[in-house]
Amino acid sequence: ASEALKADAEPFDGLKRVHVIGAGVMGGDIAAWCALSGFEVTLQDLDAGAVDRAVERAQQLFAKRARRQPARDNVRARLIADPEGNGIANADLIIEAVVEREDVKQALFRDLEARAKPSAVLASNTSSIALARISRAMDDPSRLVGVHFFNPVAQLPLVEVIHDAGTDAAVVERARGFVVAIRKYPLVVKSGPGFLVNRVLGPYMLDALRRVDEGESIDVIDAAAVAFGMPMGPVELADTVGLDICLAVATELGIEAPADGRLRQHVAAGNLGSKTGQGYLSWTQGKVARTL
Ligand code: NAI
Repeated sequence: ASEALKADAEPFDGLKRVHVIGAGVMGGDIAAWCALSGFEVTLQDLDAGAVDRAVERAQQLFAKRARRQPARDNVRARLIADPEGNGIANADLIIEAVVEREDVKQALFRDLEARAKPSAVLASNTSSIALARISRAMDDPSRLVGVHFFNPVAQLPLVEVIHDAGTDAAVVERARGFVVAIRKYPLVVKSGPGFLVNRVLGPYMLDALRRVDEGESIDVIDAAAVAFGMPMGPVELADTVGLDICLAVATELGIEAPADGRLRQHVAAGNLGSKTGQGYLSWTQGKVARTL
């Protein structure tokens, strides 16, 4: 961690300012991690309250990872709430982490392309949507790259760097270098349904949720996975990822989530897992409170 706490980390390859759009579970934590790693970060969301909550949550990470007061003050100063998106014009890298909807992301990148510096790297944290679909409305789709973090950002080292045939190789290389600069492990993968990790994890989680629909106990399913060596069971994982995201990934992978199944029912009811406090499990302060 000490590497991250250098008061004035060297800008990476001229990449110094990071703008993050979407201050939810992922965007908030990505912004905090980038600030901790020495980048100047602005954080935007349609909902100014989400930005405030993310900045508040970041203080806990900073307190844990930046123990000395001057370092902590520096890190705090590097994370700026920016609900209006003023940071877009000066950012060297823009990371989008808004809702998992193709139309929303398409419109967002179309707009970003016009407002960002021509040299800025434009990145999406999408879990599952193919790059070519997100970049469809852009004049220059070769600027878009996937930079896909995993939840929880502070604990998981893997970041998929996603490209397709149309992505500029220099952009991929800058994104990969950025991931190294924030002390994560970049895995460069081709765009395709679920990329790599969710391609494998999606069917695993969705099958577990189907077992719940079939009447199997959640405790039994999760205990089996943990006893098998997984850090948490698939149902707890689904709640942690967010059930809306799980449903979007399932759709993208062509896995049918039955209309009368609990996954769709939970999503329709707004019970999205740990982020709302209710899902397959009940959550208090980010921890499982009880099985529903
Ligand atoms: P979330 O629902 O926690 O946060 C999304 C945020 O985006 C909300 O605060 C919302 O107000 C904001 N937003 C929506 N439209 C916007 C717009 N046009 N401009 C600015 N802000 C806007 O969602 P979460 O879980 O953080 O997911 C965000 C993205 O990250 C999705 O693409 C998701 O697939 C991806 N992702 C999610 C993971 C997870 O475990 N939850 C893991 C890896 C990627």
